[in-house]
Amino acid sequence: MKNNIKTRFASAFEEDVYNGLTSCPKHLSSKYFYDKKGDKLFKDIMDLPEYYLTNCEYNILKDNIQEIADVFWGTNGFDLIELGAGDGKKTKLLLRYLSENRIDFDYLPVDISQNALDELQESLKKELPTVSVKLQQGTYFDTLARLSDYNSRKKVILVLGSNIGNLLHKDAIDFLIQIHEAMSPDDMLFMGFDQKKDPQIILDAYNDSTGVTAAFNKNLLERINTELGGNFNLDSFGHWETYNPETGTAKSFLISSQKQTVTIKDLELKVEFEAWESIHTEISQKYDDMIVEWLANQADLKVTDSFTDEKDYYKNYIFRKK
Ligand code: AVI
Repeated sequence: MKNNIKTRFASAFEEDVYNGLTSCPKHLSSKYFYDKKGDKLFKDIMDLPEYYLTNCEYNILKDNIQEIADVFWGTNGFDLIELGAGDGKKTKLLLRYLSENRIDFDYLPVDISQNALDELQESLKKELPTVSVKLQQGTYFDTLARLSDYNSRKKVILVLGSNIGNLLHKDAIDFLIQIHEAMSPDDMLFMGFDQKKDPQIILDAYNDSTGVTAAFNKNLLERINTELGGNFNLDSFGHWETYNPETGTAKSFLISSQKQTVTIKDLELKVEFEAWESIHTEISQKYDDMIVEWLANQADLKVTDSFTDEKDYYKNYIFRKK
């Protein structure tokens, strides 16, 4: 059956799914991993022994906390703006140190999900009641624009978890440019970048033995089923991971193990899959100092400091305006 070309969509999700599944090769965006179930699966991923990123960044913060706090601290205190509230385990380490040492700061976690912010606030109230928390609900960019002349105090912008790695270099540069635009001359950016390393370690991190990452990847199809009236049979798709050591790009795919047709009612779409045809779903870019410095330079930023773990698996960099 032939599909009529659809041009009107009820949401960006509809439009992106339609465009991705009618492209050749097929693709879907990893930004749609994160519904309630996806958030839970990502938390489970962060606890996996294979997913070294979270532990490495936690250890970097723990082992260098005094030095990091010293770099952040200005004479009049500062505002700590975190893009992506997360579950806050790593940030809490920093918040605890700052508050125990009576450093003057406000914590402004930014997230699109009010639910994630409310949960974070609840846990901070219990664990760190003296920290001044100002929730910022919205997209990173709207919030950054709003905060760009928020206050005369220094701003420290925090982006943890190598979240930048889910962007192609050109989008990562745009992201850094937007951050640059929100920064005043004294402000700084503290950002985590997963590093190039033994390819097998990277492959294992994105293809764990218990199948949590596979479920996380397949959750995209489940979302299409529940939210757009799709009939994907999840058992007929497998999770596949590749890593190209030359470019430093890990890529996730879903692969149809048979020839099949999938119907997505709300999109009035029938999607034909050949046996072993792929849907590309995510990139997780790995970096080295040269690439990070190149990205920074493109956004008129400079690297002024960096901190790494004992195996050099992961690095947190401090950037300032040039
Ligand atoms: C959120 N992001 C940085 C994770 C990553 O490592 O790319 C998402 C993820 N995908 C599979 N495992 C974890």
